[in-house]
Amino acid sequence: MNTQTGSAPQLSDAIQLPSGAVLKNRIVKSAMSDSLGDGTGNPTAAQIRLYERWAQGGLALSVIGEVQSDPRYPEKPGNLMLWEQSDKDSLRELTARASVNGAHIWPQLGHGGALSHAPVYQPKGPSALHIGDFKCDGMTLEEVLALPETYARSAALAKEVGFTGVQIHAGHGFLLSQFLSPLFNRRDDQYGGSVAARARIVTEIITAVREALGSSFPIGIKINTSDLLEGGLTQQDALQTIKLLDETSLDLIELSGGTYFPGAKSSSDSAAKGPYYLEFAAQARQVTDIP
Ligand SMILES: Cc1cc2nc3c(=O)[nH]c(=O)nc-3n(C[C@H](O)[C@H](O)[C@H](O)COP(=O)(O)O)c2cc1C
Repeated sequence: MNTQTGSAPQLSDAIQLPSGAVLKNRIVKSAMSDSLGDGTGNPTAAQIRLYERWAQGGLALSVIGEVQSDPRYPEKPGNLMLWEQSDKDSLRELTARASVNGAHIWPQLGHGGALSHAPVYQPKGPSALHIGDFKCDGMTLEEVLALPETYARSAALAKEVGFTGVQIHAGHGFLLSQFLSPLFNRRDDQYGGSVAARARIVTEIITAVREALGSSFPIGIKINTSDLLEGGLTQQDALQTIKLLDETSLDLIELSGGTYFPGAKSSSDSAAKGPYYLEFAAQARQVTDIP
């Protein structure tokens, strides 16, 4: 509800996020991996122009898909990277031009995990897997424990170069989605097993990113409502996960679904059926107030 008018929110209504940041309307350009990076993780002129045009078009927020913290596990070779070798000047030009007209520009902090771009990169997920033609290595406990710091460092760099928020990617079968999914996550330590144990690394990352960014910088997450895969994350699991996320300092939860697992359905496959996840969103609203 619009608290001022008592009516349902309109597309043009601003929304204030829990951290205090304001989105000027309800139009968000969801993350799309655009492969417009220069191959070394920095933006190209074409990419900067694209995000500037979206901002000029009047949206409140655009999210750049698949921005990597760890150069070893990209989703594609054209992903942007936020790490110690980033070209801060070109990233600053990107954020300055992508935020004209009052638009927010957020990187989606990604990690390919088991779906890292093979064979150029060596896929590594929560657990070693070999299913049909699909094969990946498993992460050691030390590698898992290092993740919050890796995400936090990238998030701090994002803020430094002018991004106005970050989205943590925990959907579509990439690393954090793999941790949430019983299909990919077969760990028998504190990061595998129950829904809470599978979500542990996600909440630890949110805590570390929040510490790096301070209380007034928006942090969003994208998660699956279901993996659309046999043995994967179910809607019940996803609802329980959202209950756990409700106890974090998140600003925004984006609902999606599907997995880029060989032969599986992806979120965009169901686009023709109209607005989706509405039913799930209504259930999620029962367990969280986070926008
Ligand atoms: C070309 C393309 C690239 C995408 N890349 C990403 C991505 O990098 N990260 C992500 O979370 N979703 C990605 N998506 C999914 C979209 O963000 C969105 O969740 C999905 O397309 C469903 O929304 P729609 O019906 O508006 O397309 C991509 C979608 C498309 C079509």
